[in-house]
Amino acid sequence: MNLNQTDHPLIARFTAAGQGGVFAFLDRLDAAQRAELLAQAGEVDLAEVARLHRTLVAGAGLGAAVPAGIEPAPAVPLPANGGDPAAWARAEAAGLEALRAGRIAAFTVAGGQGTRLGFDGPKGTFPVTPVRRQPLFQVFAEKIIAAGRRAGRPLPWFIMTSHQNHAATEAFFAEHRWFGLDRGRVHFLRQGRMPAVDFDGRILLESPGAIALSPDGHGGSLRALDRSGALDLMKAEGIDTISYFQVDNPLVRAIDPAFLGWHLLAGSEMSSKMVPKTDPAEKVGLFCRHGGRLAVVEYSDLPAATQAGREPDGRLRFRAANIAVHVLDREFVRRLAGGEGTLPFHRADKKIPTIDAAGRPVTPAKPNGVKFELFVFDALPFARNPLLLETSRGGDFSPVKNATGADSPQTSRDDQVRQWTRWLRAAGADVPVDATGLPAGAIEVSPLFADDERSFAAAWRKLSPPPAIRDGLVLPASS
Ligand code: UTP
Repeated sequence: MNLNQTDHPLIARFTAAGQGGVFAFLDRLDAAQRAELLAQAGEVDLAEVARLHRTLVAGAGLGAAVPAGIEPAPAVPLPANGGDPAAWARAEAAGLEALRAGRIAAFTVAGGQGTRLGFDGPKGTFPVTPVRRQPLFQVFAEKIIAAGRRAGRPLPWFIMTSHQNHAATEAFFAEHRWFGLDRGRVHFLRQGRMPAVDFDGRILLESPGAIALSPDGHGGSLRALDRSGALDLMKAEGIDTISYFQVDNPLVRAIDPAFLGWHLLAGSEMSSKMVPKTDPAEKVGLFCRHGGRLAVVEYSDLPAATQAGREPDGRLRFRAANIAVHVLDREFVRRLAGGEGTLPFHRADKKIPTIDAAGRPVTPAKPNGVKFELFVFDALPFARNPLLLETSRGGDFSPVKNATGADSPQTSRDDQVRQWTRWLRAAGADVPVDATGLPAGAIEVSPLFADDERSFAAAWRKLSPPPAIRDGLVLPASS
C-alpha cells in the first residue's frame, strides 16, 4: 500500500481539513504503526472536531451560557424530610416486583481515566474498603448478588470500559472468577474515543504514530450501549430498565428497589438521585428546571450569588446536587443514541502528553489543549416525566476522586465505616462513636451480609451471641 501523504484518501482529507500534522511522522513508522495510525484517524469525525473547536474553543469559551429563568428542580423528599412513607413503600414494592420480573440490569460506567486519583490500573480495581481492602468491582458485584438474592433472580451487569482499560478490566474479572457472578451475565462494552486538540484546533499526537485519543465521557455510555448491542441483548432478555452508577462510589445503592419503583410508577424515561447541598461553595452540578425540562447545570456555570441564595427557612434555594446515580429506560437510551436528542459536547482544558515538532515527548506543566466529553445528565432534558428523588449522602454517595483530601480513599473509607456503624447502632449494638460518627475500631460489612439498615438488623438478630465489637468487626457474607 502506498501511503504517500497526498494520494491516500484519508490523509488527503486530513490535509484538506488542516489536520495533516497527524501524519507528520509517517515516514518514521513501520507498516504496522502506519496501519494503526490510519485506523485511529478513521475513527475521527473531522467535521465534528472542526465544529467543536469553532463553538467550544475558539467561540464561547468555557461553559455554556446559563439560560435566564432557570428554577431549582423539585425532588421527591425522603420520608425523614417530609416524604410520604406510604408512597415510598409503594415505590419499593414496585421496584421489587420489577426485579422479580427480571426487568432490571445494573450498569457501571468505568471508562474514565482516573487521573486525579493517580492509581495505576482501572479504577474499579482500586482497593476501596477499610479492612479487607476489597476492590470497587467486588463491592458492586456483592451488591448485585445481594439484590438478585432478594429478588429471587440474578441480575445482569453491564460495565462500560475504555480502549485503555478494557483488557485489564476483563482480566481482573477473570482473575477473580467474576466475583461469584454468572460469567455469562457480566457484559463489557467499550466506549468511543475523541481526539484532543490544541487551542488552535489542531489534533494532538500522543506519539509519532498515535493520536491523543481519550474516552468520550460518561455520556458516551448511551451510544456505547446501543452500538455494542447491549440494548438488543437487554430487549431479548426482557430487560427494560437500567440502573446506572459510577465506578468510583462504593456507597452507592447499586440496585435500589425504591428508586427503581419511583421511576417506573412515574412513567419516567430517566430518573436521578439528588442530595441536598448545604455548602454554597461545594463543586457539584445542580438539578434545575428550565422551560418545563429537568437539567443539570454545572457549578461553574451558575453565578455565585445564585448559588448562595437561600429559602426563608435557611436552606439553599439551588440545592439539588447531582450524585450521578440514574435510572434509564432502555428505549429512551436507544432513541437518544439514534440521534433523537443530540447531547452537547463539553470542553475540558487538560495537560495532554504530546510530542514536539521533532517527535520528542512533551509533558506539559499547564493545560496545552482541550478534550471533548459527553455527560450523561445532558440526556435529562430529552426525557419524558423525569423524576428526581432525594437520597441521603451517607447512604449513597462517597466517591473516590482524589488521592488525598476531599473525596479521597480516606474520606470514602470513613464514610463506609460510618454507615455500617449507624446500622450496628440501629440494630441495638453498643458502639461508641466520636463526634463525626466514627467508632474506635475498624468495621467492615460485606453487602452479602447486609446491604441496608433493614437487612442488617435482620442478619444481626440471627447472630447469637452477637460478636464483640470493641476491637473492630468484619462481617463477611452471611451463610
Ligand atoms: P470522572 O468525571 O470522575 O472522571 O468520572 P474520571 O476520568 O474517572 O477521573 P479524572 O477526572 O480523570 O480524575 C465519573 C465516572 O464516569 C466514568 C468514570 O469511570 C467514573 O465512573 N467515565 C468518565 C467514563 O466511564 N468514561 C469517561 O469518558 C469519563
